Amino acid sequence: MIERYRERLPFAPEDPVVSLLEGSTPLVLAERVSERVGAEVWLKLEGANPTGSFKDRGMTCAVSAAVREGAEAVICASTGNTAASAAAYAARSGLTGAVIVPEGKIATGKLAQALMHGARVIALRGNFDQALTLVRELAERHPIALVNSVNEFRVQGQKTAAFELVEELGEGGPDALCIPVGNAGNITAYWMGFRESGCAPRMLGWQAEGAAPLVHGAPVEHPETVASAIRIGNPARWEEAMGAMAASHGAIRAVSDAEILDAYRFLAANEGVFCEPASAAGVAGLLKHGAEGARRVACVLTGHGLKDPQTALARAGSVVPCEPDLPAVEHAVLG
Ligand code: F0G
Repeated sequence: MIERYRERLPFAPEDPVVSLLEGSTPLVLAERVSERVGAEVWLKLEGANPTGSFKDRGMTCAVSAAVREGAEAVICASTGNTAASAAAYAARSGLTGAVIVPEGKIATGKLAQALMHGARVIALRGNFDQALTLVRELAERHPIALVNSVNEFRVQGQKTAAFELVEELGEGGPDALCIPVGNAGNITAYWMGFRESGCAPRMLGWQAEGAAPLVHGAPVEHPETVASAIRIGNPARWEEAMGAMAASHGAIRAVSDAEILDAYRFLAANEGVFCEPASAAGVAGLLKHGAEGARRVACVLTGHGLKDPQTALARAGSVVPCEPDLPAVEHAVLG
């Protein structure tokens, strides 16, 4: 991805690149969602990145820069995906990786990834916001590169998704972008990418009702939502997100957990696209409010559904038990 966009990223030709060939993700037309909202709706499948989320776009840049700067270790606070991505890119680069996650609050797949890639995984008896405050302090005291989206290279890398949308959709890109918002790094990155491409779609950011500080205009001390990836009460990129919203005549609004789960199931059952719950927040918002005059809408599906099998299994239909003989199988299959 750095190779593809090098002239628009802060990397010189001779700089080291740590890559898993992230980016260039599929953009698929969502026919059923389009029908429901009366607009052309496209899904950007960021779960197709190497570690299963959009974080890889930023991580290739953050870890490449860390290597260039001579860092020996990288660290992040995370609700799970940043941890999985940081661990993978650290493993690939030979750097040591450490991740701090809220204890018991990250999806199983993400935990498995971070552990398998050999990162030191610290389960904090606290939430993401506390973890981020602590790693920021730690990174100031020790020669460890902080790879949360407070790191400029993360945002630089993630802006490439907006470049791809503009290239793929042509005609100035989408009229509106629906995107889930947690720490607000990604909405900041998309807006940067669109501006650099000369586009200004409406930025429609969606938070979960129980974790919607940007909607309330104040930090949420105890954020709660089924969408664990965006269970964040005090986004680091607060000002940038509000700026993107205002400059694009967009909005940052909340959707309930029930609405998120409805959209999550709808996408899987009707579009064949399995994303994680947080990723469905943008589509939930679109289904709730409609396209609001936009002719062409892009929804960012930030992470893969397999990240969080437990939430899926808890909300999906049950399997059909069956004896190993033909009449039983006939009955089981045909009902
Ligand atoms: N969707 C998913 C699947 C995420 O993992 C995140 C953030 C977001 C949306 C929100 O993006 O924070 O840039 O506004 N996950 C971070 C993490 C916080 O630690 O993995 P954002």
